[in-house]
This record gives sequence, C-alpha cells and structure tokens, in this order.
Amino acid sequence: MPRTDLAGLERRAMAAEPPRDCPLCPRLVAYRQINRAANPDWWNGPAPSFGDPDARLAVVGLAPGRTGANRTGRPFTGDFAGVLLFETLIKQGFARGTYDARPEDGLQLVDCLITNAVRCAPPGNKPETLEEATCRPFLAARLDELPNLKVIVTLGDVSRRNVLRALGLKASAGVGGHGSEFQAGPYTVINSYHCSRLNTNTGRLTPQMFEDIFIRARALLAR
Ligand code: URA
Repeated sequence: MPRTDLAGLERRAMAAEPPRDCPLCPRLVAYRQINRAANPDWWNGPAPSFGDPDARLAVVGLAPGRTGANRTGRPFTGDFAGVLLFETLIKQGFARGTYDARPEDGLQLVDCLITNAVRCAPPGNKPETLEEATCRPFLAARLDELPNLKVIVTLGDVSRRNVLRALGLKASAGVGGHGSEFQAGPYTVINSYHCSRLNTNTGRLTPQMFEDIFIRARALLAR
C-alpha cells in the first residue's frame, strides 16, 4: 500500500478516537481533572472504543461511568452495566473469554465493537446536549471506520438519538423503545433499553429481554 494511503488511514482512525487529554468539553475536562487529582492511578480520559475493527455489529452505549470505564479505560468495564452486557455478548457468540471487569482479562469481542455516544465520564452519568453534539463527530467517524458494519445496537435513548444524528439523520428518524428496529442509511439499528443498574434492578430490562436484542442482531447478520 502506498505511504500516502497509510497516512490517510491513520488520520481517519485518529478522528474516531479523541485524544487522551481531549479539551473540547470544559465541564467534562474539569470533572476529569478532579478525578485525576483524587485517583491518579485511574484511566481518567476518554474511553477508547473496544473490539473488532472488522466488526459487523456495533454496540453504542451512553458514556463511561466514573468508577467503571473512566477508571479502567475500557467501555463498560468495571461498570455494573458491563456484567450483563459482556455476559450476553459471550452467550450470543459476540465475545469470547471471561469477563473479569479489568482490561487485562483477555476478553475478546468477536465481529463486534463497543463504543459510547460520549467518550468522557459526565457528572451524574448525564452528558449535556452540547457535550453530545461536541463528541458526535468521533461517533460518526467511528461508525464510518467500520468497513463491514451492518447492525447497530443502541443502548438507551441518548445512544439512539446520537447514532441517528451521527449518520446525518434526524433524531426522529427512528422510534425509541425496547426492541424497536429501523433502517438508518445502510445499517439496521436495533434499540435496547440501557443495561443500567436502574433498568435491571427495577425489572424494566430483564436478562432475556436484553439477550433477545442480540439474538435478533445475529439473525440479521445471518441474512
Ligand atoms: N459504561 C460505559 O462505558 N457506557 C455506558 O453507557 C455505561 C457504562
């Protein structure tokens, strides 16, 4: 491959992942600094996407939890939500190995990549609208950089809206709700309730409801 192509590939891959000290959102930078001062051994930066660069399935979460992905540096890793997510992915063949809540656990995603709509941990797990918009070009580039992408699973409404906007569509282009499914450009989007502690503890989202989303993704990929 000519050198220029290699440089171009590298530039595009970088556009999909914010730098460790991304300065774009003042509130999130301030929060990062507080976390760095209190816990200097934590990751405390944008959590890089995790998984297979040739994935046909992308899972898009909301944002790193302070003591989860913000601590460990891998999406959903160390977060309560990660237990159900990774166990379900393993069950449905989208991951292999054992999830042990640390990036060194050797867990590998198979035909699957996990990323977040907002890459830095927000206070109270709630990104502001402007922060979503500011981070969206990274999400757009991330999806664009998956040459085999076919199916996107959005976890929760913030993820669904941001995926649609990242694909150049209106947030209203696809309906919300657990199990809703729609076409967004070349991709099929399946929306799931977020696998958060609140949703699972209240029974709004059961493990079977969550697994059904990935069974459906598998069926779409088999077409
Ligand atoms: N951890 C993440 O990385 N993303 C979420 O959406 C929730 C927890």
